[in-house]
Amino acid sequence: VHLTFEEKATVIALWSKIRLDEVGAETLGRQAAVVYPWTKRFFEHFGDLSSADAVMRHPRVKAHGKKVLDAFSEGLKHLDYIKDFFDALSKLHCERLHVNPENFKLLGDILVITLARYFGREFTPKLQAACQKVVAVVANALAHRYH
Ligand code: HEM
Repeated sequence: VHLTFEEKATVIALWSKIRLDEVGAETLGRQAAVVYPWTKRFFEHFGDLSSADAVMRHPRVKAHGKKVLDAFSEGLKHLDYIKDFFDALSKLHCERLHVNPENFKLLGDILVITLARYFGREFTPKLQAACQKVVAVVANALAHRYH
């Protein structure tokens, strides 16, 4: 995936307008509770995740969603050498957390959908295209250390 200078700038500008806690909580909540509920098993140690509602309002899910988006934000600042930047995080997800890398793509898609809801009409097809590329680049970088 090749990102143009304009695409990078577009996504960075969009990103600066979001509330990381809100978008992070909704993205992780949707992923783990509703859309791909089997991913809930990674977060069982967080506590009661028995219903979609419980997951969506769980403080630890919210906090973790924010943490993931914070990492994403840092990644956006280092898009030109993102594989190196996410090297340790990729290793952690592979070797310690045993997260199947397919899940990075799924999370990226949910993030795009959450952004579309957040921005409504402002989220043009062109913006979506740039965002899809960025989430693909991030998913790729996080999968880099898998063997
Ligand atoms: C932990 C980022 C996707 C499961 C983390 C941490 C970060 C992070 C920054 C904390 C690392 C630390 O404590 O040093 C990301 C990013 C992702 C992503 C940027 C994709 C854009 C996923 C996915 C899953 C997942 C798709 C599973 C479905 C976990 C788990 C932890 C974790 C289980 C440990 C949580 C805990 O016990 O506190 N991730 N992650 N991550 N991540 Fe990810």
